[in-house]
Amino acid sequence: MITLQGVSKSYSGETSAVEAVSMHIREGSIHGIIGPSGAGKSTLLRIMNVLERPDRGSVLVDGQDLMQMTEADLRSLRRQMGMVFQQFHLLHNRTVSGNVAIPLEMAREPKKSRAERVQECLRFVGLEDKAKEYPASLSGGQKQRVAIARALAPRPRVLLCDEPTSSLDPGTTMEVLNVLRHANESLGVTIVIVTHEMEVIRAICNEVTVMDRGRIVDSFPLEQARAQGSGIVLSYREQLLGKAVMPGD
Ligand SMILES: Nc1ncnc2c1ncn2[C@@H]1O[C@H](COP(=O)(O)OP(=O)(O)O)[C@@H](O)[C@H]1O
Ligand SMILES: [Mg+2]
Repeated sequence: MITLQGVSKSYSGETSAVEAVSMHIREGSIHGIIGPSGAGKSTLLRIMNVLERPDRGSVLVDGQDLMQMTEADLRSLRRQMGMVFQQFHLLHNRTVSGNVAIPLEMAREPKKSRAERVQECLRFVGLEDKAKEYPASLSGGQKQRVAIARALAPRPRVLLCDEPTSSLDPGTTMEVLNVLRHANESLGVTIVIVTHEMEVIRAICNEVTVMDRGRIVDSFPLEQARAQGSGIVLSYREQLLGKAVMPGD
């Protein structure tokens, strides 16, 4: 559904944050992008909905070239591409339902259907009973579930998630990952998830792209993921597939 062709982006002009990246996000997949800090993962994710304009290359969504679109068309396309961030980005002076309502207000949805949709989304993430609370009274995992409910409110076809569990402890990480999986399985939402945590990939991804220094260094499906190995000498592929890669593989 999302195709990047030869995409490059540099901020300073010397080293590229993203260099000649081509990849495809399959509709209905949960696609992990993993790599060390500074690899270019966040930049690549922002390129997918052209929040960041690449210097070169093209970004296609269902075959449509985003680089050729007007700002108005881009804005409406971005509504089909929800975003979830590490730091949640909730508004602290608004209640939980007030936060989930934001994208619906921006889309000028009528008040009644807006309220129904907010309730539906909070039910989906298991936080219906928190509707009237303020973000400050929630745990990190609950805040992230509110952010996911907000991202799902305009019925996006894809969620772009940047380190969605990196501020959370292992228990709440699973609670958030389960909600993302649920969105994928029951709503058919395609999920792209940027992370530096192997556990996140193991838990929910069925496709993996490995990035390092702006480039894709590996990519593979993860249907039979078997967790093995712990040493840093193993590649991401070896750790995730649980086998050594033989020369010629
Ligand atoms: N807005 C920016 N301005 C200047 N340099 C940036 C900006 N965003 C990212 N970079 C640089 O681009 C490179 C890739 O960053 P980033 O995409 O954030 O990587 P990752 O998410 O994998 O940690 C890093 O060297 C980073 O310092
Ligand atoms: Mg990042």
